[in-house]
Amino acid sequence: MKIFHTVSGLRDDLTEDRVQGLRIGFVPTMGNLHDGHLALLHQANQTNDIVVCSIFVNALQFGLNEDWDKYPRTYESDCEKLRAAGCDYLFHPDDVEMYPNGLDTQSRVICPTMTDVLCGASRPGHFEGVTTVVSKLFNIVQPDEAVFGIKDYQQLAVIRRMAEDLCMPIQITSAPIHREADGLAMSSRNRYITEDERPKATVLKEALDWVASQIRSGNRAFSELEAEATAQIERAGFTVDYVTCSNSKTLDLAADDDSEITVLGAMFTESARLIDNVSISEE
Ligand code: PAJ
Repeated sequence: MKIFHTVSGLRDDLTEDRVQGLRIGFVPTMGNLHDGHLALLHQANQTNDIVVCSIFVNALQFGLNEDWDKYPRTYESDCEKLRAAGCDYLFHPDDVEMYPNGLDTQSRVICPTMTDVLCGASRPGHFEGVTTVVSKLFNIVQPDEAVFGIKDYQQLAVIRRMAEDLCMPIQITSAPIHREADGLAMSSRNRYITEDERPKATVLKEALDWVASQIRSGNRAFSELEAEATAQIERAGFTVDYVTCSNSKTLDLAADDDSEITVLGAMFTESARLIDNVSISEE
């Protein structure tokens, strides 16, 4: 695996690869890699000749009171995992390489409306930071395909929309949610869950699964289902940020005649904010 810390270094190699007609796949991450991230790498490896992974903890997508400074940075072990997963190029820029003109005057990419709801409502500015850094990374790597996890469902939907709206010639593909044995979605933030909370943290997925099963069996009383799921999570001792039935593509509130619905949820533990989702499509 070749490691690049500069845009120009990575570009030089990728330009040669492109001249040779090689197909380039890209997996952007913030590091602290777990099996969920590595599954994205494996998926990218199936359909591409060269797989590029980026590790960059993007300050622009963290709120003032969020965990940018304490976000786990595990570069050495990440490199080992990436080598084992068959990653060809790692792009690991520092803040100055990514934001040479500083954060305040950085040009931004905004995807309106669908970033105002769900996680966007409780994390103002978050998605603007994501779309901006992902646009920059897309321009740097110029991949044929980029793989994102369904775990961050809203992020995936926003990036798909951004790529469509801005005519980015990149195939955006999704990878299934990788889970711990008991069903908890893998996340770098799971390390903030206390020992006491950990066995109960599966309640988020269980509550969303319950809503999905109700919808599958014909119950379309979305608000009531959301309220009951909220109560289930609160009974386990957690604070609910949202449980929402949404149109899978637009993320608008689900309508009676929607055939593709995603149930999304976010909850707070003592010191973590966890998200999960489950999708239902009419067969
Ligand atoms: P990060 O949280 O590191 O996630 C990188 C990629 O891994 C995302 O596409 C995310 O959806 C995926 N992922 C995380 N946990 C997963 C799981 N349990 N199963 C499957 N995929 C999972 O998402 C980001 O970084 C950043 O916002 C980024 C896109 C890199 C922009 O900074």
